[in-house]
Amino acid sequence: MKNILVVGAGGQIGIELIPHLQKLYGEDHVIAADIKDEMCEKLKSMAITEQFDALDVKAYSQVVKKYQIDSIYNLVALLSATGEKNPQLAWQVNIGALLNSLELAKEYSCALFTPSSIGAFGLDTPHQNTPQDTIMRPGTIYGVCKVTGELLSDYYYARFGVDTRSVRFPGIISNGALPGGGTTDYAVEIFYEAIKNKHFTCPLPADSYLDMLYMPDALNACTQLMEADPAKLKHRNSFNVTAMSFCPADLYADIKKRMPEFTMDYQINPIMKEIAASWPDSMDDSCARQEWGWNPVWDRQMMVDDMLRAISAKMSAL
Ligand code: SER
Repeated sequence: MKNILVVGAGGQIGIELIPHLQKLYGEDHVIAADIKDEMCEKLKSMAITEQFDALDVKAYSQVVKKYQIDSIYNLVALLSATGEKNPQLAWQVNIGALLNSLELAKEYSCALFTPSSIGAFGLDTPHQNTPQDTIMRPGTIYGVCKVTGELLSDYYYARFGVDTRSVRFPGIISNGALPGGGTTDYAVEIFYEAIKNKHFTCPLPADSYLDMLYMPDALNACTQLMEADPAKLKHRNSFNVTAMSFCPADLYADIKKRMPEFTMDYQINPIMKEIAASWPDSMDDSCARQEWGWNPVWDRQMMVDDMLRAISAKMSAL
């Protein structure tokens, strides 16, 4: 049985990836790690938890040794909008955690998953049906880190045989932990605001199309790729994955249909608008489908129904 370490486990993906991994590999085989006290408190009620800074390679390596880790999910990241507020910090955190993860994976023969993103693409990339292999010249520090991550991960595989794999996540919609500082976050916040206040002020233009995934599909993407037969992988870092593409106006109409009293207005955040305009409208994920059987289940209407149901239940339990 595998021993798995999730670093940055207190974030939007980690908090749901932990129970998903526990179901697959058993509770004794999944270690959650985060730097923040409040995240670790939350994680302790769910999993074996270790607190350390992923930039501290000594502390990180001690945990890898202690639990004889053979698979690492490196989820440490400052997202796109936050990154633009402090680009130097974004580089330090995103690349620092990546380099330590790669070095430890090399030293202790671990497989390594580090998510990439639609943020790895830029204005010059074809925006419709964005190919797997295409121009990647991102305009954000987050994207620069993600392209660097893809290149370094492929380099460690080619040069040292480290089993690195990753996907380019689009916006991820979920109802566990909130995302923070991303350009796609509106697609989560809108549901909380719809239920709490029946009103949402959207930071992106009405026609800003972006790819999205519902969390259960995102979790399957991680574990399906990590379990895939390596002989079938022509790509490694990183695969386009998507399940839906929509804009704020679409999502507004979907919620309004189910909740007629819901209203939305716009207060455009110029940085987010520019970031969203530079990202794909819809990606071609056929390589992921062919090479490791990617096949998302959740479409937009199913996702909207489930988000409204789950968040209403969460709010009424408060
Ligand atoms: N959700 C991320 C962001 O908006 C994209 O990977 O920054």
